[in-house]
Amino acid sequence: MTYETIETETRGAVTLITLNRPKALNALNTQVLADLTSAFAAFEADDSQLCAVITGSGEKAFAAGADIKEMSEKPAADFYKEDFFAGWTSDVVKKTRKPWIAAVNGFALGGGCELAMMADFIIASDNAKFGQPEIKLGVAPGMGGSQRLTRAIGKSKAMEMCLTGRMMDAEEAERSGLVARVVPLADLLDDAMKTAATIASMPPLAAMMNKEMVNTAFETTLDQGLIAERRMFQVLTSTEDKAEGMAAFVEKREGKWKGR
Ligand code: HXC
Repeated sequence: MTYETIETETRGAVTLITLNRPKALNALNTQVLADLTSAFAAFEADDSQLCAVITGSGEKAFAAGADIKEMSEKPAADFYKEDFFAGWTSDVVKKTRKPWIAAVNGFALGGGCELAMMADFIIASDNAKFGQPEIKLGVAPGMGGSQRLTRAIGKSKAMEMCLTGRMMDAEEAERSGLVARVVPLADLLDDAMKTAATIASMPPLAAMMNKEMVNTAFETTLDQGLIAERRMFQVLTSTEDKAEGMAAFVEKREGKWKGR
């Protein structure tokens, strides 16, 4: 499948999705949303694909935000009527139950930071810069930034980032818990693809349920979350992969997964 604004390829069980509007620093316009929605749906539907990586083309940016040129002339009534940005939060993220990683190379600003935070986790290059600079445009985050950034790094830092529009470098992002790891730019894609391959080598249902369990922590009270976790754990004990995984441990060999 070819797309207008992104490139996709599969490497073994890992799908690589590359935002590909380098001249606009991979700014996210309506076509990018359409392309990503379709690419994520294809990834989700393909049983041979078990983990995805999303990154930006070029060395300068993961994505420098929603496309300001697309938004600058749009009347307010249209933003409301189209429920602008709803597709990003409802379709791309929530429908993808398999794990995916954001490999952030360079700027991840505004919608770019928000897209990265939609991923299950972020691996950043050492030149990465994160920010929610929307306030400087007279607006505010619209794809989840105020909610996900606050959950990721806490009120004080999130508030400061949103109110000043300042950028956070990779080192601070790691220290703040926004990113899982920082690696040299030259190693970023290799590292993210290897990490994705490791995840893809796990029992697939267990990977999906581990993802669901961690995400449940953001949606529930502790008691409800603990019950949900226990039930998911109990469901996993009924899978063939659980029997295989435990037998493989006892027999000191690698497990062979069936995804059921
Ligand atoms: C459209 C963008 C863009 C964007 C960069 N470009 N960011 N186009 N939307 N978000 C374009 C520039 O216009 C320019 O095109 C080209 O990419 C290169 O960018 P430069 O600015 O020349 O590069 P540089 O000087 O290196 O500065 C890099 C930068 C800066 C610091 C990342 O581009 C920047 O501040 N970008 C905007 C960041 C931002 O505000 N993001 C939040 C967007 S709002 P030309 O044609 O001139 O070469 C958002 C949610 C809004 O995400 C929610 C509202 C409802």
